[in-house]
Amino acid sequence: MNKKKIAIIIGTRPEAIKMAPVVFALKQRSNDIDTVVIATAQHRQMLDQVLSLFNIVPDIDLDLMRPNQSLNDLTCRVLQLMQKTLADVNPDLLMVQGDTTTVFAASVAAFYLKIPVAHVEAGLRSHELYNPFPEEANRRLTSILAQIHLAPTPLAKENLLNEGTKEENIFVTGNTVVDAMSTLLNVPFSFSESPIKNLPLDQHRVILVTSHRRESLGEDLKNTCLALKEIVRRFPDVMVVYPVHLNPNVRKIVMEILSDVERIALIEPVDYLCFLNLMRNAHIIVTDSGGVQEEAPTLKKPLLVLRKLTERPEAFNAGLSKIIGTSTNKIVSEISLLLTDDKAYRAMIGSNPFGDGKASDRIAELVSRWAKNLKPLFSSENEFKG
Ligand code: UD1
Ligand code: UDP
Repeated sequence: MNKKKIAIIIGTRPEAIKMAPVVFALKQRSNDIDTVVIATAQHRQMLDQVLSLFNIVPDIDLDLMRPNQSLNDLTCRVLQLMQKTLADVNPDLLMVQGDTTTVFAASVAAFYLKIPVAHVEAGLRSHELYNPFPEEANRRLTSILAQIHLAPTPLAKENLLNEGTKEENIFVTGNTVVDAMSTLLNVPFSFSESPIKNLPLDQHRVILVTSHRRESLGEDLKNTCLALKEIVRRFPDVMVVYPVHLNPNVRKIVMEILSDVERIALIEPVDYLCFLNLMRNAHIIVTDSGGVQEEAPTLKKPLLVLRKLTERPEAFNAGLSKIIGTSTNKIVSEISLLLTDDKAYRAMIGSNPFGDGKASDRIAELVSRWAKNLKPLFSSENEFKG
């Protein structure tokens, strides 16, 4: 029997984190399938940090990041390079993960070549086109082009059904980020041997912050920075640790307002193992990141989301996160509440609704059954139930 060839696309830091366990699980089924990892390298340094941590060497690296790239330029470069790459590799199936421009543009390129697409983390919806931007559109467009929809949660499946996606093509797997975390949380780690060894983490209550979304650039990000400044002024035992995303539009605002503020540590993006341990060590996590919203509940940390709405409401529905927006006053009051009210703090700790650590095995099993033309691809008893 001819083995089927599965191409896996990775563009940015979160795609690499969430696809790494899928790559490993697929490689364990090398009797049934061949895997080809293609990095668009929409991100460079932040992608390489993840690839080297997981020891993944892409078979093809398109190296297409440009400083301060525009969405249109980026989309054109992905389309153009993927046209040639897909024609050369000629995969039977293309796997994409999430909602980045790499995901959307690679799916279009595959569609034009009539290569079927499997979408990992399918079905997340905020139901507002510009929020998050451009991810909400990227996800919806990818859903139209994909033939296999790997929904992380029952809610994501419901979103797809509501849009008319055929139920027989949707499989609830859990989010692969939980698998990535389970592996790495067992790896020994010491801050004293890390790039942030000089931070006095154990002498403070640490608030870990990340914020980088395009729709927040400008006033919203400024408001967040001003709130953080106010929090360290009010609470002398609190320290803010903020790994600043490499997007120059983020860095300009954050550096301008928060450089040289006592007990605010602006650090370079750290590798995933270090970041997981920062989360584990944090008192509160404040973020607009998608992935971090899924990780904080796994680590049983109260989570404040710097957005007006989220496409990942599972944590909020379980009482584990609050969607606090980006007004300075609101951010200050919500952080202050968690710093002063133990009952409110403890009420936000519970179990993770996003996955059970078995998502990548489910996905690999399903893909290998697809490769062998077996039906059903997946039994609903094996699905992640949420
Ligand atoms: C991208 C994704 C976003 C995802 C985020 C994860 C799109 C449109 N956006 O946003 O969905 O949440 O990644 O982080 O797909 N840069 C570097 N080195 C890096 C990475 C970025 O220098 O390793 C700088 C470059 O100047 C680059 C800029 O950041 O042009 C923006 O990168 P881009 O991937 O276009 O957007 P992000 O804001 O990172
Ligand atoms: N992360 C990391 N190092 C950092 C900051 C974040 O490894 O310095 C990880 C984080 O744990 C999460 C992912 O990067 O898994 C989130 O990436 P990002 O916020 O860039 O993208 P998003 O999730 O918003 O798409």
